[in-house]
Amino acid sequence: MVLSPEATATVRATLPVIGAAIDDIAARFYDTMFADNPELLRNLFNRGNQANGEQRAALAGSIAAYASSLVNGAGVPHAMLARIANKHASLGVTSDQYTVVQRYLFGAIAHVLGDAATPDVVRAWDEVYWLMAGTLIAMEAVMYSESEQGWLPATVVDRRQEAPDTVSFTLRPPSPGAFRPGQYISVAVPLADGARQIRQYSLSSAPGRDHWRITVKRVSGGGPDGEVSSMLHASVRPGDVLSVSAPFGDLVLPPGDGPLLLASAGIGVTPILSMLGHLAATGSTRRVVVVHADRAPAHHAHREELHDLVAALPGATLHRWYEDTDGCSCACAEPALGERVEAAVPAAGGSTGRASAQVVPVRVGRADLSEIELPEGLTACLCGPVPFMREARAQLIARGVPASDIHYEVFGPDLWLGRD
Ligand SMILES: Cc1cc2nc3c(=O)[nH]c(=O)nc-3n(C[C@H](O)[C@H](O)[C@H](O)COP(=O)(O)OP(=O)(O)OC[C@H]3O[C@@H](n4cnc5c(N)ncnc54)[C@H](O)[C@@H]3O)c2cc1C
Ligand code: HEM
Repeated sequence: MVLSPEATATVRATLPVIGAAIDDIAARFYDTMFADNPELLRNLFNRGNQANGEQRAALAGSIAAYASSLVNGAGVPHAMLARIANKHASLGVTSDQYTVVQRYLFGAIAHVLGDAATPDVVRAWDEVYWLMAGTLIAMEAVMYSESEQGWLPATVVDRRQEAPDTVSFTLRPPSPGAFRPGQYISVAVPLADGARQIRQYSLSSAPGRDHWRITVKRVSGGGPDGEVSSMLHASVRPGDVLSVSAPFGDLVLPPGDGPLLLASAGIGVTPILSMLGHLAATGSTRRVVVVHADRAPAHHAHREELHDLVAALPGATLHRWYEDTDGCSCACAEPALGERVEAAVPAAGGSTGRASAQVVPVRVGRADLSEIELPEGLTACLCGPVPFMREARAQLIARGVPASDIHYEVFGPDLWLGRD
């Protein structure tokens, strides 16, 4: 799909003006839409991300990036659209809601640009909006047709403390359908003030089991406590039922037999655990370099599980960095560099086998990908705080890994979207 020649000329000419005003437009758009439709903020949008401004920046960045790709002939930014469509599908966004968004977005454009919002300008940007919306609606329709629709009741069958601030919940949905390792579900919870808030949690277990598992870090410190993570930690116990979506998400285990780098920091380990669990369960011999960075061993959720999953994979190597190893006895018990360790691991077919893998002793400090051995032709999946991923990505690019082979998941609105 392409813009008409008239719209292309107008959009190209007004991109700098719209680009400069897009944050104001996004702010006005959300303010007016939520003033008239408060239920959207209470029940659909993430009000934490509205309060901290991240979602506004992500929406503005995505429209500007899409428009500039259309007029500069750069090709449709598929990765960006796939991420948005997956997020929308996990939230149950419907095609008729695009008309609501269009109305408030164009009201905001007219308000912010004033006289500069001539009929030609509005018409040209309306074309951009509907090209983008049409693509998203079509992608979401395919996703809806391939997955279970609506909110599913998932019974909590287990709850485990994985680290001082991190709890995992094992869930039994009505039919734990197939998912791709790395995908997430949305969880909708009722809050004390009557609002329903939705958050995404990566599935931290492998597919093909009769249950799903999520692992939730409680958000606290540096601002108001996180609403949903605090509620899940404080109130949800085995026997409770959570409303969850079907699995969605575009950061998935790269198919094939090629070498992998799976790098995570902190709670970003969750999709990586699912990928490793799948590789272990299918007896994979792929070359896999696993990197994990955390504050300290005691704060590293699923530390032993990560170790055991790597031990199940003959082609895997595990590198860990901790900012602080003080007072930890486990670090001293780590095997020497290059030593192969044995562990009881779940093998294909559900039995338990012994396997070995290379586990490099823990390092102190921040993860540094410039110093580890990496296989040629790897595909990288990164997940963790944005500064960690930025640094990892820069180090990989410096080592010759093409940007197109580096995939990542941001645990919030993706402020990188506009720059990819
Ligand atoms: C694809 C994806 C996968 C994810 N997977 C996981 C996972 O596996 N495990 C996991 O733990 N998390 C995961 N997350 C993150 C998760 O979805 C939530 O974002 C996280 O749990 C925080 O939600 P919350 O409701 O507790 O915090 P929120 O209430 O949403 O708060 C978020 C932040 O906004 C700040 N904030 C809130 N109000 C204000 C205000 N008025 N002013 C300034 N700042 C404010 C809070 O202090 C906090 O820092 C994932 C996210 C995505 C998008
Ligand atoms: C062309 C139109 C639209 C564009 C360009 C767009 C863009 C985006 C972007 C960039 C994100 C952030 C994705 C991420 O990084 O996680 C997002 C999330 C979201 N979108 Fe849209 N969107 C559009 C239409 C809609 C519509 C019609 C709705 C429904 C009313 C909607 C509801 C949401 C919600 C609820 C989120 C998650 C917000 C959050 O978690 O803070 N969007 N959208």
